[in-house]
Amino acid sequence: MSILSFSNLGQSYGDYDVFLGLNASIPNDGKIGLVGPNGIGKTTLLRILAGLDTPSSGGVHLAQGTRVGYLRQEAMDAFAERENTVHTEMLSVFADLRAQEARLHELQEQMAQGDTSDELLAEYDEVHHSFELAGGYEYEVRIRQVLQGLGFSKSELDLPLRMLSGGQKTRALLARLLLEHPNLLILDEPTNHLDFAAVEWLEGMLQTWDGALLIVSHDRYFLDRVVNRIWEMSRNGMEEYRGNYSAYVQQRQERWERREQEFEAIREKFLRELDFVKRNIARDATKDQAQGRLTRLIREVRVVEQGGLHLLLNQNWGKVMEQVEISSHKWGWMDTEQAIKNLRSPVERPPRLNMHLKPTLRSGNLVLRTSHRGECAALIGPNGTGKTTFLRTLMGELEPLAGQIRLGASLKIGYFAQAHEKLDPNKTVLDTLIDHKFMLIGPARSYLAQYLFRGEDVYKPVHLLSGGERGRLALALLALEDANFLLLDEPTNHLDIPAQEALQVVLENFQGTILLVSHDRPSFPAPMPSLLRPAPAPLNRPNKPPPNSAPRFAANRATTARAKTKHANAPKPWPTPKPRSTAWNKSWPSWSQTWPRPARRRRSTRCNGWARRTRIHNRRWSRPWKRGPSWLRLERHLVR
Ligand SMILES: Nc1ncnc2c1ncn2[C@@H]1O[C@H](COP(=O)(O)OP(=O)(O)OP(=O)(O)O)[C@@H](O)[C@H]1O
Ligand SMILES: [Mg+2]
Repeated sequence: MSILSFSNLGQSYGDYDVFLGLNASIPNDGKIGLVGPNGIGKTTLLRILAGLDTPSSGGVHLAQGTRVGYLRQEAMDAFAERENTVHTEMLSVFADLRAQEARLHELQEQMAQGDTSDELLAEYDEVHHSFELAGGYEYEVRIRQVLQGLGFSKSELDLPLRMLSGGQKTRALLARLLLEHPNLLILDEPTNHLDFAAVEWLEGMLQTWDGALLIVSHDRYFLDRVVNRIWEMSRNGMEEYRGNYSAYVQQRQERWERREQEFEAIREKFLRELDFVKRNIARDATKDQAQGRLTRLIREVRVVEQGGLHLLLNQNWGKVMEQVEISSHKWGWMDTEQAIKNLRSPVERPPRLNMHLKPTLRSGNLVLRTSHRGECAALIGPNGTGKTTFLRTLMGELEPLAGQIRLGASLKIGYFAQAHEKLDPNKTVLDTLIDHKFMLIGPARSYLAQYLFRGEDVYKPVHLLSGGERGRLALALLALEDANFLLLDEPTNHLDIPAQEALQVVLENFQGTILLVSHDRPSFPAPMPSLLRPAPAPLNRPNKPPPNSAPRFAANRATTARAKTKHANAPKPWPTPKPRSTAWNKSWPSWSQTWPRPARRRRSTRCNGWARRTRIHNRRWSRPWKRGPSWLRLERHLVR
């Protein structure tokens, strides 16, 4: 049984077709990961399935009584008019239960005053029974678990919603959705604003989710753990694969190889036929036979040319003729030979982002107090620990609470902002580039093509770009800055997997200094020799998922199973989040393993006498853990 299905679905803006002819269905218990390059139309599809937009063609069928919950990709403008605090917003999900609770209190009061009439007792029994069945005694606990699991601290619960940051708003929306428990949960890049511990919690939660899921994500590890099917969107439509992300990659590779083999086989067959035609078309005895075979060959070549190989292989000839227009009379064998040579393989591998970062000068060595001095560091840590604030302080946008920062004279900073808020939403892609650095239109367009903005794409205004397209534009601007010190604030957010990999390669080859801020898991393993986090322990981060996750989720499943037997009709309890510090610390080496004490610190040889040390002391970072060394100590040797 499917909870949602759609057929022949298409969406177009003017004469631009985002996608056409999509067909698929979501089974009742389907956990589907939707993947595809940036800008292919994933968000557009989700919005249609969630009922927020109307498709240009085709239709969506939703099973009767299905409740759909949708988490959007960007939540900057969410809750604009809401006066609620985070906690009261969560309470509003349980308005019915709270009304029942209030009624129960009233009835109890009446009973306390001596009214024990049969009607009153019967009403009390009825309300109490339904209150208990609907989880009335658990909703407060659930709210606490969800908010804690998604990384809200106690003090944040009383913040008005409109004052939250974009990331916090997304988390609040997600929390509300999880509490509403819809039958079909549609999530658009839910992990973008979650820190490591919250992603882990969400994975556990979704693994035991008993409804259907449709999730867009560029996080391979997340998809591997949560989904059991993958829908891949490409320019050719949508294909379904069974299994998680790793299974999909393997199947896709096999499918590509199989298609390439089929294509080569058919091309060879065409060439053999053509060879027969060439040898026999001039001889009277064989001329008619050769002409007949040429006519058939032309027809087949035209089918592959216009409709693709699958049309020739999979359909009956009557259907093929409906879809393809074949007028072969003008072709001779020479045209046919050229057409066979021009046939393109049906396998379209994802386009590669072509990025270059070249510093003008090699400078700006960033020396952090680790066991080895590196020029490439990542600062990682949960939301709200001050990572972005730290970068903005380095750039001089904010005054440091204590200490001082001195930047070298030859230092040229390139900054990649988290939400790309410096991009003007009303300018086109091309204007944004030209305003950033003057270029003639021709070179500007070919430069943008390296970042996959081709054809009419360059005239799109920034506000119409998808999340990943905005990220690519920001990368294009960054690469023009000739910076020798890159400050990258969560650069992989919204980027599709090939773009993340391209960025990783570029950073590996970058000759300058990099400070990368991320709450991300190992999507950025290779170029980072040192990883720091505003937590008790800086670390050399292992390129693998945390070792303790499997037993913990098993424990969650056991808890859920117990709860199920107890209250068959009551909603399932949520996985209990572990205290942040425990989850975090178990997965990384301890402070003493990777972070030498000040006594053992040596002066940087590279910076020699020019080096200057600055201690950056930020007490905000101590709060989430309240254990171990309570603040991040970054000692910096900065070149003057
Ligand atoms: N209102 C609109 N008018 C014109 N084009 C639009 C509009 N909305 C979206 N687009 C374009 O449609 C394409 C698909 O956008 P969409 O946001 O669905 O991509 P996506 O697959 O979700 O990408 P990402 O992975 O970056 O989030 C993009 O090229 C976008 O610029
Ligand atoms: Mg999107």
